[in-house]
Formats: sequence, structure tokens, C-alpha cells
Amino acid sequence: MTETARIHALHGKASSLVIECGADGVPVWRHWGSRLPDAVNPGPPLCDMRPLASFSLEQPAPFSLFPGFGAGWFAQSALLAHRGGEAFIFHPGNCAVDGCSPHSLTIRAIDDVAGLALAITIRLDPASDVLTIRTSLTNNGTDSLDVQWLAAAVLPLPSAVHNVRHVSGRHNSEFVACEDALGRGQWRRENRRGLTSHDSFPGAVVTTVGSTADNGLTFGAQLAWSGNHAQTIEWLDDGRYQWQLGEWLAPGEVRLAPGESLDAPEVLATCSPGGWNGVARNFHAAIRASMRWPGGTMAPRPVHLNTWEGFYFDHDEVQLKALASAAAEVGIERFVLDDGWFKGRDDDTTSLGDWTVDARKYPAGLRPLADHVVAAGMEFGLWVEPEMVNPDSDLFRAHPEWSLQVAGRPLLTARNQLVLDLTRPEVTDYLFGVIDNLLRDLPISYLKWDHNRDLTMAADVQGRAAYRRQILAAYGLFDRIGAAWPDVEIEACAGGGGRIDAGIIRRTHRFWTSDCIDAVSRVAMQRGFLQFMPPEVMGSHIGAAPAHSTGRSQSMDFRAAVAMAGHFGVEFNLLTMNAVDKARLADWIAFYKRWRHLLGGAVATGTAADHLAWQANGGGDQWLLAVYRLAPSELRYAPTLPLSFVEDGRWNVRRIDPVETPDRDARWRSGWRVDGAWLRHVGLPMPPMKAEVAAIFLLERN
Ligand code: GLA
Repeated sequence: MTETARIHALHGKASSLVIECGADGVPVWRHWGSRLPDAVNPGPPLCDMRPLASFSLEQPAPFSLFPGFGAGWFAQSALLAHRGGEAFIFHPGNCAVDGCSPHSLTIRAIDDVAGLALAITIRLDPASDVLTIRTSLTNNGTDSLDVQWLAAAVLPLPSAVHNVRHVSGRHNSEFVACEDALGRGQWRRENRRGLTSHDSFPGAVVTTVGSTADNGLTFGAQLAWSGNHAQTIEWLDDGRYQWQLGEWLAPGEVRLAPGESLDAPEVLATCSPGGWNGVARNFHAAIRASMRWPGGTMAPRPVHLNTWEGFYFDHDEVQLKALASAAAEVGIERFVLDDGWFKGRDDDTTSLGDWTVDARKYPAGLRPLADHVVAAGMEFGLWVEPEMVNPDSDLFRAHPEWSLQVAGRPLLTARNQLVLDLTRPEVTDYLFGVIDNLLRDLPISYLKWDHNRDLTMAADVQGRAAYRRQILAAYGLFDRIGAAWPDVEIEACAGGGGRIDAGIIRRTHRFWTSDCIDAVSRVAMQRGFLQFMPPEVMGSHIGAAPAHSTGRSQSMDFRAAVAMAGHFGVEFNLLTMNAVDKARLADWIAFYKRWRHLLGGAVATGTAADHLAWQANGGGDQWLLAVYRLAPSELRYAPTLPLSFVEDGRWNVRRIDPVETPDRDARWRSGWRVDGAWLRHVGLPMPPMKAEVAAIFLLERN
């Protein structure tokens, strides 16, 4: 951090932020964007260069890091709170900025009239160019404070921004790309589903005029939070925009007692001169740095076999052992036994909550199957959905009061299930005991932790909204399991991608991206995922053909090439495969193992003319490029594919996917040398490809 009395600046590799302190009040935003010189001098103070505008307050309220309501800031406020209908203004008179380290600063502001203390800590990680922002509000008053909105971060965007790229979706169709133009109004997304949700990821990317996938100043932000959330981008009357992100609070949800604090979820924010792929790379670095791996570092991502779509609830121990043997033969490394293993669980109407093994399906418990899996050289993983209960379960019959409910209101079910009230310590103790016992009894090194419905009636025993506390209690449970079992990896799943966010990944190691494994659908979905999360945590499987979710069929080669883009797995019944397909699957698994180390590197993704989409993993001197043709070509000659991520130098390019290609394509197999500038500006010549066909290239510089 550099500072004069007035100016505080933090610098990353490619970005800087500069704030200015006035005589009082919260510091104002001067800059968040391109990298500036270390000892940057912004010239005169903002107020000297801003003549009073007509019909304006003589005490202007410039855009601060935490603009408050009621004292001259007429745009969205960072805080909406009151004390029994009074004390609705936030206007601190006392503010200090401490530089905690060269890369972080803390702003403390006190409003004695409102009885509030605010602390905002901003860290700019020079390695990733990601800001981590933490905001905390303390009630210093003598009576309680009702908080309706506390911005977790307020970010400035320059007037040159013009579009916001965000995602929408539903179960089976996550990360649907959306793009909205920013105008003179508000752009707003809210999520009230109680968990991160399939349809409203808590973050977005904002482009400036002329930004592309790989060039142009581009901004991104995301909340590290798995519950309700809201974000607003709002035009300001100096032409800039403010971007606020925070937790969406239900009515009455937060009432701070005297002395109590509210810590907003952390925000990760970044800006990159390298377009939205640059933003993605920064996010990936920050997410990677926040993760906790068994043993301290990520082991190569093991190939999964998940039993769900191959078997659903139809568990037969003999068949599953045969499946495990077949899986080991083709090179699978982790066998995950999905839903259906516990008492009475023959469909989704019953048994959630009763986490004991179904003796009809497993007469000697799960031990024989787990031992068989381990003896075959694989890890054994188990599916659980701890936060849920079916009304038809022993747990619900014994403890109907344990589900989230409001007196006098109906119990609303989804997938026939209710959500347990984790704000009750006896519930989390019970769940910890259940999981702890499973981990003690069996050689389990992996949990797939599901959450298959939205929250409703999320109130505590007093009837107060408890969405936020439910998430904090879930985090507490994950943390307790993580502390007791640090070597167990956890997959976060919520009907596929309903709980994908930067909060839960600090406690888990993989996401189940979507219940839709159709490879054509996955291409776009995975591109959306990779905007915010790195590829090594993106669960991507080869599913059945036809795909259960869409009814579409694709070849094994196409399905495998798409699954290669993330943490690879297989999710169909291997026992019904013929020898040829089995050998081909083994080839793809070996191919994934050969290249999986690149998953931990940089990623670039894009689409191109004539129905092409692509993803490149690696960085520096080596990239693995997968090109997907999603629909038949409309052109006589396929256009070249420009690769804007490729740097200067001489590159060797060759096609390396383990598929047979016709002799006329031999040129792509033998490869050629080409300039990086050529690949960037003109592009890679494409081999002839039919629809739903992929080609994987290795690009090496030397
Ligand atoms: C959810 C998950 C699936 C599977 C089922 C089991 O839908 O996303 O992968 O685990 O639950 O019921």
C-alpha cells in the first residue's frame, strides 16, 4: 500500500485501486482498474475539481466505499437499517484507514449518532489481482438494530462499462449465458431460494466497450456465500456505476443486539486487461488459494465412477462389485456409491435422515463392497444428503420438530423432502455423529454431499427468518467434518449445480456441475462454470447415450472429449459395454491421466463462427486445446479458428486425441510449426468435422 495523508493505493500485477480520505466520512473511490505507478499522484482532491452542481447539496456526498442513506447519497445505499423504525441514517463522522500490509487496508468508521461501527478490510492479492473484501457492522447502540441490507462490497465501475455477463438456468440447465446492456438504470439479480441456486450465480462479469474474450478491461465479482444474495449495478450521476453485492436478507432476519456484529460474506473482485478469460484466470487463482486439500496440495484429480445414472436406487451388491472390478480394469480410480444405499431408500419418497445401511441390499453392510473397491486399487466414496429428511423416515417420525417449519403453516415438500433445521445444535450434533460414524466404520475417502431442494419456511423456533443462520450452521458442520477428517475430500452437489460458489468450495473439493450430462449441453454450461471456478473442481462425466436428461445421443469420443475439460468421471453402467467400447473408454481414461496435470493451469474458452466452441487448458509454452463442433458446418471450407490466448513465438501444433481419423487428416496428426501471431490473428486450420465431434490439439512452444 502506498499512502499520502489523503491517498491510499493498493497495486496488483495488472490492476490498482486508489481511495481518497476526506476530512471525515468513509473514503471515496478514485480508481479501480488498470495498473498505475506505485507512487501514483492523483492530483488535487476530488472535491477541488468538482464545482458544485446546480440544485445540489452544499455538502456533496461523493461515491464512497460505503455510501449511506439519508445524508445526501441518493443512489442505492450500502446499509438499510433502523432501530424500531428510527435511526435510519448512516453518516459517520469519524473514519480511519490502517494499512495492515503492503497489500491490504482496513477502513474503520464510526457513526456516534446511529451507534454504528463499520470495518471494511480490502486485500489485493498481487498474485491473482483479486480483491478480497470483508465488511462488518457492529451495533454500538443500547437497543437492537434491524438490518435490511448490508452491502458486502461496493465497487466502482468506470463509465466505459457497457455490458454485464451473468448466468441464469434451472436444474439440468445451469450456467445459461446471459448478457445485458447497462444503461441509466439499475441492473439487479436476487436469489431467495435459500441456497446458492441453479438460476442465479452470486456474481457477474462487466465488460468495457470493445472487451473480448482475451482483451480489454473487464471486471468481475462474486460472493463467497451459499445462501440468499443480491447484486445491483447502478448508474451514478457522475457517469460511473456502483456495483453492490451482498446477502439478501428476509424480513426481520437480522436484528443485532447491542454489541453484536454482522459479518457480510466475503466478496472476490477483480479486473483484468485480458477480457473475460483474464477475469476467469484471476478468479481461478483466488479460488485455488482459498481451498484446503488433504495433505496440503491437490493430488492429481482421480478418475471417478459414479453409480447414479447407471443404477439409480437399484443397488445390487453382486452387480456393484462386478461394476467396481470393471471400473478398475478400465483405469478408474475412485468409485462413488450414490443414493440408494441406506435403509428403505428404493426411490426418492423415503428414508432421508435414516443413515443406516439397507440390510436387504447389503446384508453384511457396506464393508464388503467398500473393501472390494479398495482391494481393486480404487478409493471408495459415498453419497449423503445430511441436511434433508423425508417425512417418511424414522428420523422425522422421532423428531418432526427438527425440520424447518413455521407454526400454523404447511410443510412444503420438494422431491418429497424437507430441510432439517440446522440452527438447532442437536440437529448438527446428530448429523456430525452420523457422518463421523460412517467415516469411522468404512474406508471412505470421499463424500458426495448433496442438497436437493430450495429452502422454504426457514424460521427458527421463535419464528424468526433463519436462512442466514442455516447456511452458517451448514458451514459449521462442513468445518467440523473437515477438522475431524482432514483427509476426506467432499463434493458439493445440490441437484447438480445448485450450490456452486466461492464459500462452499473452501470446505469442499469438487462440484457436481449439473445433473445434465448431455455433452452438447455441457459445452456451454462448462464455459459458464469456468468463468468463476477452476476446471479441476468441475465434475464432468461421460454419461450414457442417449443422455437421460435430454434424450440426445453423442458418440463416446465426443462425450469423453467434453468430460476431459474438467475433473473427469464416468457415470453409466460399464457392465453393459461391449469390448470395443470398453477399450475405447480405457484409451480416453489413459489420455485424461496423461494430460490432467494441465487442469491446474490457465484456461481459455471461446466460441467461433460456424458452430465451434473451444476450451484450452495449460498456459505458458503448452496448451491442450479441445475444439467442439456443435452443429454441421454451413460452409464449404471450414474457417480457421483464431486463438487469441496464444503468445508470440514458434509453436508446434498437432492433433492428439485418441480417435481414428481418416488418412486425409494425416496432416493434423503429424503436426506443423507456426507462429503464435499467426494462430492469434489468422487461426488454426480446422480438420473436417461432422456435428457433435471434437478434436483435441497439443500446442507447444519451443
Ligand atoms: C441429485 C444429484 C445426483 C444424484 C441424486 C441422488 O440429483 O445431483 O447426482 O446424486 O441427487 O438422489
